[in-house]
Amino acid sequence: MDTLVDTEIRGRVGVIRMTRGPVNALGHGLRSAIAEAHRAFEADPDITVTVLTGHGKFFSAGADITEFDTGRKPPLLTDLIAQLENGSKPIVAVVNGIAYGGGLELALGCDYLYLLPEAQLAFPEIKLGNIPGAGGTQKLPRLIGGPKALDIILSGKPFGADAALKDGLAEAICNDFEAALTQIQTRAAEGLPRNRVRDRAVPGTADALDKAAAPHLRRARGALATTAAVEAVRKAYTTPIDGALAWERDTFTRLNTSSEARAQRHVFFAEREARKVADVPSDTPQRPIESAGVIGAGTMGAGIAMCLADAGIPVTLIEQEQDRVEAGLNRIRQIYEAARDKGRISEDEAEARIERISGSVSFEDLRTADIVIEAVFEAMDVKRDVFARLDATCKPGAILATNTSTLDVNRIAEATARPHDVIGLHFFSPAHIMKLLEVVRADKTAKDVIATSMALGQRIGKIPVLVGVCDGFAGNRMFINFNREAQILIEEGALPWQIDKVLTDWGLAMGPLAVMDLAGLDVGYRIRKARGPQSPYPFTTADRLAEAGRLGQKTGRGWYLYPDDARRGVPDPEVEALIHEVSREKGITRRDVSDDEILHRCLWQLVNTGFQIVEEGIAQRASDLDVIFVNGYGFPKTRGGPMLYAEETGLEQVAADVMRYHRDIGEHWKPSALLLERGKMATA
Ligand code: NAI
Repeated sequence: MDTLVDTEIRGRVGVIRMTRGPVNALGHGLRSAIAEAHRAFEADPDITVTVLTGHGKFFSAGADITEFDTGRKPPLLTDLIAQLENGSKPIVAVVNGIAYGGGLELALGCDYLYLLPEAQLAFPEIKLGNIPGAGGTQKLPRLIGGPKALDIILSGKPFGADAALKDGLAEAICNDFEAALTQIQTRAAEGLPRNRVRDRAVPGTADALDKAAAPHLRRARGALATTAAVEAVRKAYTTPIDGALAWERDTFTRLNTSSEARAQRHVFFAEREARKVADVPSDTPQRPIESAGVIGAGTMGAGIAMCLADAGIPVTLIEQEQDRVEAGLNRIRQIYEAARDKGRISEDEAEARIERISGSVSFEDLRTADIVIEAVFEAMDVKRDVFARLDATCKPGAILATNTSTLDVNRIAEATARPHDVIGLHFFSPAHIMKLLEVVRADKTAKDVIATSMALGQRIGKIPVLVGVCDGFAGNRMFINFNREAQILIEEGALPWQIDKVLTDWGLAMGPLAVMDLAGLDVGYRIRKARGPQSPYPFTTADRLAEAGRLGQKTGRGWYLYPDDARRGVPDPEVEALIHEVSREKGITRRDVSDDEILHRCLWQLVNTGFQIVEEGIAQRASDLDVIFVNGYGFPKTRGGPMLYAEETGLEQVAADVMRYHRDIGEHWKPSALLLERGKMATA
């Protein structure tokens, strides 16, 4: 037991210090040790107040996740907290560092909270599809009111000592543990009364909470954990605490086994797994990145420059002409100023970020850059020319990256005499916002360039996923096939609004046709024309729309009509007539297509392509593709991505469907060998 907690008696104060390395996870042993130490202090007549604290950087990081699998033995955390609350003496938490989840609930089970400056508090449960389950949803509102408590529970984000004190969560911030103890001893001598959080009234009203909850509920679109969090905090106003705590505990247990929570746990672990590269060990030396260059100050270049500047890296932004430099820098300035005006960043921070980005028309200014990311026009000759010039200019060891979304990174690398320094860094638009970063490994990319790029991705707040070179890399290759299937379904008999509705009802942020309208129908049109006809070619309707100047939202009409600049389109009978005409021209007898067929044909295209990508070694693992779709393509975390959805459906079923589609629909459904193997199907 003595490795789990230390106890000491300081005057009339008994101190329990949790010392379970590395993070004071509240496993069975630690819970028992705290309970035992508390009982001993309760029984000691010389002690009037108990103090609970942690050590090092941790008060407690919360539950011991290994117990999720092995099952939990009493005393459970709720038992331990009840013991602290039912004791005869006041108990004071001195939160010395990280107090997350169950760790924070343990602190809220005390009568008073003192914070050290390093305290970091959070309820991260929502990120795993759950709510706090040991009193957090009832006690936090009693301290800071329902709306603020709801914000904390629904954001899952950590907040520091100053914010906690300001909100009224704690008594004081003390410089160190001794300073806190001195204050507690003084108060103990004065006769510190019990002051259980559970006994306090909840500030504010249920009506005010409902108002605060409304936008969260709208955004969550029925996500179980968000709905439950709102209901839980509401109970703080409407239900006596014991009933509310019982409801919270039951709900926590129920949500833990929900498919949403399973999916979110899958994404959580998949994102961590994605950082690992099989043949690039984590101790691979990295190249220092202290300065960067970005070439092209268009949509992507400007966004990429901002990602780097946000992370404190100075950037030289290169354009062809001075007025383009100015235009790029102005756009960047506007975005930072808007963020400042909305209170997202401080005035000083906005200025510092703007100052970190300087513009130039000369490649000479890239001589000292540790990394250069190219985001010029998507044309092989332009890119190769840029890389040849970078080769002639940049210092040895500089990483030369391309943001191409469709071109062969190997061919770009061959334009230099140092292909080992070349890598793809495929950002998604808008680059300063989207989390996904595909790190594209070319044939000759050096391992330390991969290690450095993966680390840089994390440093600039992205979720980097390693992929290999192929047309569209992982994400776009899958997405294009998904979209192609939507087009085929339209020619067979479905309508765009039916397809979008089926997919958004399932959980996608937007359907594929609405996405085309947002991106502009000219974008895909140009790419298709440049590539020439492909089989199957179901984009005839999309091409006709583009040729008629129906380019989507920006022209007020595309697949949908956007009257009065509306952001949500409405169905258009003209489009429906055009669709019928195209089906007729192609000799297709239109039929009713069921929602179920739409869903599975679109999703199984993603999945079959995904398995091909894994089979070819373009992606390291199927879960990386889920990370890509959740962070780059608006897939809901509560579904966990297409590959998990296929697993949960059963790969045998998916393989059987794909084989049937192959037989009935066409060659583009050729099943991936890996899918057949995983689905235990004999190769067709
Ligand atoms: P853009 O047309 O907005 O910007 C390209 C910029 O590069 C222009 O400002 C142009 O003046 C500049 N430029 C061209 N040649 C140059 C040269 N030799 N030296 C310096 N500057 C030069 O294009 P966008 O959308 O920013 O795309 C750039 C790259 O990013 C392309 O490779 C594209 O495929 C890729 N990409 C684009 C995405 C998007 O959604 N727009 C998403 C992911 C990647």
